[in-house]
Amino acid sequence: MPTAMQAARRAARSIATSEAFAADVLEGLAAKPKRLPPKYFYDLAGSALFERITQLPEYYPTRCEIALLRAQAPAIASLFPQGCVLIEFGAGSSKKARILLGAAATVEAYVPVDISGDFLQGDLTQLRRDFPRLVVQPVIADFTRPFELPPQIAALPRVGFFPGSTIGNFEPHEAAEFLRHAGAVLGADAVLVIGVDLVKDAAILCPAYNDAEGVTAKFNLNVLARINRELDANFDLGAFEHHACYNRDKNRIEMYLASTKRQKVKVNGKAFSFRAGETIHTENSYKYTIESFQALARGTGWAPLKAWTDGLFGVLTFRRDGE
Ligand code: AVJ
Repeated sequence: MPTAMQAARRAARSIATSEAFAADVLEGLAAKPKRLPPKYFYDLAGSALFERITQLPEYYPTRCEIALLRAQAPAIASLFPQGCVLIEFGAGSSKKARILLGAAATVEAYVPVDISGDFLQGDLTQLRRDFPRLVVQPVIADFTRPFELPPQIAALPRVGFFPGSTIGNFEPHEAAEFLRHAGAVLGADAVLVIGVDLVKDAAILCPAYNDAEGVTAKFNLNVLARINRELDANFDLGAFEHHACYNRDKNRIEMYLASTKRQKVKVNGKAFSFRAGETIHTENSYKYTIESFQALARGTGWAPLKAWTDGLFGVLTFRRDGE
C-alpha cells in the first residue's frame, strides 16, 4: 500500500504529466507537418502492444539484443569496475539488466531510472529475491534530465545501461546530447553499455515496422486512442492508417498516421482539420552502423570499447574519456 505521501506525490506527478501531454499534443497537431512525440505511445495499452511487437517474427531487434546480451554477458561484465552500480536509463522491466547481473558478481547495486514510476513492482521484488545481495534502488525521474542518485550508492563507480535502441527515437543531435548527459551523470571512468539497431536492407527493416498481423498499426493508432481517453478528443480510429517506411538518406524508419479522408478532429476543445491523405509523423527510429555510432559517442567524450553484433543489432560498450 502506498503511504499518503506517496499517493499525493503520484497524483501531483500525474497532473504534471497530463499537462505536458496536453501541451505536446496541441503543439504537435498545430505544427506543419503535424507530429506527435513517440514517448506517448507507452500508456498501459501501448506498453502491452509494444510487448507484443517484441514477439513478432518480423521484429528482430529485441530477440537479437537478448541473444547478444546472453552470449556476451561475461565479456561485457569483465569491463565493469569492481563494486559498481548498474544504472539503467528508462527501465520499464529488468529483463535485460538481469542478463548482465547474472554474469557480473561485482555489481553491488542496480538503479532503474524511469519517469513513470510504474516499474513493475513485482518485477523488482522478484529481482531482489533472485539477487539477495544486490541493492535495488529505483529512481523516478526523466532520465534525459539531471537526477539525484540514492545517497547510499552515490560513491560507487558507475555503469550505464541503455538497451533497446531507445536512442534511435532521438534525432542524432539529441542522441549526442543524451550521451553527454549520461557522461555527466555517470562520471569519471564510467562504462556505458548501449543497444543500437543497425543500418540494413529495407527488405528486413520495413517488415519489422509493417508486421503481417497489424500489431505495429495498432500500436501506432493507440496514441490516438490515448488522446481520446485522456484529452477529451474524438479521433475516429477507423479514419487513420498506419504507414512506416525506411528513409535511406536519413537512415531512419519513419512512422505516420495518415487521414483516409478530409475530416475535423477536436482535442481539448480545439479543432484540427485534416486533408485526405494528410499525415501525423509519430516516430523516427534511427539506425546506425557500429562505426557511425562510435563516432557520435566519441564526439561526446565516450571512448569505444568492444562492440558485438549479429549483423542486425549492436551491443556497444564505451568508457568515459579522461576527466
Ligand atoms: C522502442 C524505439 C526501439 O524504434 O523499433 C517498434 C519502437 N516502433 N515498432 C523501435 C517501435 C514501432 C522501437 N523502440
